[in-house]
Amino acid sequence: MELVLFIGLQGSGKSSFQRQRFADTHVLVSKDLWPHARRKDARQRRYITEALVAGRSVVVDNTHPSPEVRAPLIALGHEHGARVVGYYFASDLKRCLERNAQRQGRARVPEVALFATVKQLRRPARAEGFDALYHVTLTEEGDFRVEEWKEEADGTG
Ligand SMILES: Nc1ncnc2c1ncn2[C@@H]1O[C@H](COP(=O)(O)OP(=O)(O)OP(=O)(O)O)[C@@H](O)[C@H]1O
Ligand SMILES: [Mg+2]
Repeated sequence: MELVLFIGLQGSGKSSFQRQRFADTHVLVSKDLWPHARRKDARQRRYITEALVAGRSVVVDNTHPSPEVRAPLIALGHEHGARVVGYYFASDLKRCLERNAQRQGRARVPEVALFATVKQLRRPARAEGFDALYHVTLTEEGDFRVEEWKEEADGTG
């Protein structure tokens, strides 16, 4: 049983990756599922807990830019005996802005949201409590390349 946390800017490809790799195996939890709900954090914790208690793996599809927002979720996963696995999505601001601009309707978010998130974005580290960490890049062919995380890498690419 695992708790998967995504980390990456809006438009970095998280939800596309979720649909392709986790839709059949992991319960999806994301604040985007209830855009108008209050107390999204509490609601999210409740859904995560329910799934893990039932023995189901979970993927949490939010931006999770900082160690501060990741820490309570990592702790929650471990509390329920899950392996906690992070996927960091290459978050080049220019590319994410371009992909966001190409999205339609509600999927497109205001650009200020990306500027706010990129300011908070810190690369994850195993020391935060991740049992495994991966780096995801989008390929030219519209697919995903998943590589082992390299701790020493810096920047937000
Ligand atoms: N491999 C790929 N190559 C190029 N573009 C892609 C690829 N995968 C997804 N996209 C496009 O990138 C855009 C952003 O993807 P997606 O919606 O998955 O991002 P997101 O990280 O979930 O963003 P948000 O945090 O706003 O939900 C979409 O328009 C999608 O069609
Ligand atoms: Mg998304």
